[in-house]
Amino acid sequence: MTLREKCPVLYFSDLGDERGKLVVIEGGQAIPFEIKRVFYIYDSDSAVVRGQHANRESEFVLINVAGKSKVRIKDGNEEIVVELNKPMMGVYIPKMIWKDMCEFSKDSVLLVLASTHYDGNEYIRDYYEYLKEINS
Ligand code: TYD
Repeated sequence: MTLREKCPVLYFSDLGDERGKLVVIEGGQAIPFEIKRVFYIYDSDSAVVRGQHANRESEFVLINVAGKSKVRIKDGNEEIVVELNKPMMGVYIPKMIWKDMCEFSKDSVLLVLASTHYDGNEYIRDYYEYLKEINS
């Protein structure tokens, strides 16, 4: 499976009308897991690189609900960059995939849906440790 197939870009339906747009994301339907946690990142600027980790247990969907950012994704084999620039698009990140978030626009609000509650111990923050674990 290619990295783009492992980390598909998802498009959500826009139920908007003349009053404005409305995007609905239901756990287990538009995204492939039940949502246990939501967090969002804003006020990061174009020089900041966030993430720089892989998760042993968590799956995520990242959505720029305002502004834009880029997600650099690696699996130890391939590398892809996905630009998130529409409130109705997201990218799915499965377990054990390395990700960096960067090039945030000033108005970027990056919404993250996660399949788990937070547990700092399931994060791998050292790229060499990550490579060791995926190759073992
Ligand atoms: P961090 O993982 O460094 O953020 P990012 O992935 O965007 O680079 O998290 C920053 C801090 O917030 C860190 O101290 C851990 C804490 N945190 C939580 O307590 N709960 C959470 O769900 C998340 C994502 C982070």
